Amino acid sequence: MAAPNVTVADHPLIQHKLTLLRRVETSTAAFRQLLREIALLLAFEATRDLALKQVRIETPLEAMEAPVLDGKKLCLVSILRAGNGLLEGMLDLIPAARVGHIGMYRDHDTLEAVEYYLKLPHSIGERQVIVVDPMLATGNSAAAAVSRLKEAGARRIKFVALVAAPEGIEAFATAHPDVPILTAAIDRQLSDIGYILPGLGDAGDRLYGTK
Ligand code: URA
Repeated sequence: MAAPNVTVADHPLIQHKLTLLRRVETSTAAFRQLLREIALLLAFEATRDLALKQVRIETPLEAMEAPVLDGKKLCLVSILRAGNGLLEGMLDLIPAARVGHIGMYRDHDTLEAVEYYLKLPHSIGERQVIVVDPMLATGNSAAAAVSRLKEAGARRIKFVALVAAPEGIEAFATAHPDVPILTAAIDRQLSDIGYILPGLGDAGDRLYGTK
């Protein structure tokens, strides 16, 4: 397999906030806030290469040619439910983004992804699509979600995770070598039951206080 196309967002603010977020004693409220802040910073990194075009504007002093984003509004796709924690912070930075949701749950026995919900904006093939899920663990739900988006016509896709396992990166990159991955950390390994080690536990439960 070719080397996976992975970027680790090593900005000191991202790394510091991720450490706080991982800690077992971090409260639900703090976890939610930190995830939102990191998501904004990851969105900044993930949108570095958006295309620009020049438009004519007037400043109070004179006219000038100035850059604005080119093309259709980008589309963020959240893999439910933990993806919504990243989505919120990204929308803080890109409030005009279109948003899709894809519901995937992991079958507890097989660890395979099962889709139960899909709602996407129109013209997805003409938009930069950024798929978000905090934990790239086995890679099964991420790969299945991206396959579904490609079936729906998406062509330009990136995947953003908070923490990735080496096993998940390999599985995802094998299924979708054309889709770059941006993550804040690559952890050591997956546990026997598909948790990332050392990780941060179940991102959905920590985000919503369901455990
Ligand atoms: N999903 C999570 O929320 N945490 C993990 O460690 C793996 C998958």
